[in-house]
Amino acid sequence: MKAAYILGIESSCDETAAAVVRAGEELISNVVASQIATHQPYGGVVPELASREHLRAIVPVVRQALAEARQTYDTVDAIAVTQGPGLAGALLVGISYAKALAFALDKPLIAVNHLEGHIHAVLLEERQKGNHELQFPVLALVVSGGHTHLYLAAQKGDAWTYENIGHTRDDAAGEAFDKVAKLLGLGYPGGPVIDRLSPHGDAGAVKFPPAQIKHRDRRGRKDGRAVESNVEGNDDHPRFDFSYSGIKTAILRYVEAHDMRAAIDARRQALTKIAKPKLEDYLAHCDKRTLNLVASFQRAIVDDLVGKTLAAARSYDVATLFVTGGVAANRELRETFEREGAKEGLPVYFPSRPLSTDNAAMIAAAAYPKFLANDFAPMDFSAEAGMVLR
Ligand code: KG4
Ligand code: ZN
Repeated sequence: MKAAYILGIESSCDETAAAVVRAGEELISNVVASQIATHQPYGGVVPELASREHLRAIVPVVRQALAEARQTYDTVDAIAVTQGPGLAGALLVGISYAKALAFALDKPLIAVNHLEGHIHAVLLEERQKGNHELQFPVLALVVSGGHTHLYLAAQKGDAWTYENIGHTRDDAAGEAFDKVAKLLGLGYPGGPVIDRLSPHGDAGAVKFPPAQIKHRDRRGRKDGRAVESNVEGNDDHPRFDFSYSGIKTAILRYVEAHDMRAAIDARRQALTKIAKPKLEDYLAHCDKRTLNLVASFQRAIVDDLVGKTLAAARSYDVATLFVTGGVAANRELRETFEREGAKEGLPVYFPSRPLSTDNAAMIAAAAYPKFLANDFAPMDFSAEAGMVLR
């Protein structure tokens, strides 16, 4: 059988993306239409606008991905699409289009979990580099605008399974970057700006108390009893949960205690007038205190993510660590994981920065094992906004 070419489609949040990947191991084309400009004035993703923008972009983005791959609707072997988690209306655009294509072309349709996609972004690029020797157990940190999840990933035959051993109790790490940037008048999305500003501040200037997770996690059962997770974990392992809403509140208090409001409003107004602010523009509108606050915030998040993830890696005695999702693009996070992982002899793999944030290549890559297993989606499947990865 010839190696399968899978067309992937992703529309779960604010990126309309399409890609062609061969046999889960070779990225042939990867097109991402970002909606940042649409959502920027609102300081966050507006779901209704996201759906509208996906509708506008989906056809040209898919056409471009096929053209760049020198493929046609007829030559691809299957169509893969994100089923969830994500914004229901946004997911539906990709799903409806993928269904229509699969039906019209009489091709198999594959439904992919977005989080599994982020994990397969790492696998795709490692295979592309010729690295086929993966040591198990694999621990994957998926850290993005919507998620901060730790999964143990296992492979049985072609199929992959996942066990969640930790997640955020409140805000995702990327969400904290976005909210803090908004609070400080730095615009949207916050991660990339804070990433670039942090080296210009003193990361030791402001101390944040470590996140306290005291209450049991009541998610998982309708009667309120924790089943998926609790603070203590199961008999053999503790849980490795995260919490990032406290640090956001601490920053708000810091801003108020240091009378930073007027300067923040002035910065917000000045930056909105610049179409695409550069690093120099941000620096020109940030005083030392703000830069120190930003650097200290990033350091606190990075230390927490790295500390908990490595503690989980030790507890489960894992052989390989993946760090993926939008926040995995963060330079300090990558450097810290590499440095601390090396101290423990733990290999750490990241996607390249373009494949860290949302894209469709990861969806096409995650679909390949399902393609091999004939694990196809029925035509009546629907979007699952809160889809769980197992
Ligand atoms: O994976 P992604 O594109 O979408 C979701 O699935 O959520 O992640 C987007 C998130 C945003 O919160 C954004 O601020 C964050 O990733 N992000 C970063 C960086 N680049 C994107 N956070 C920290 N540093 C970055 N360089
Ligand atoms: Zn994502």
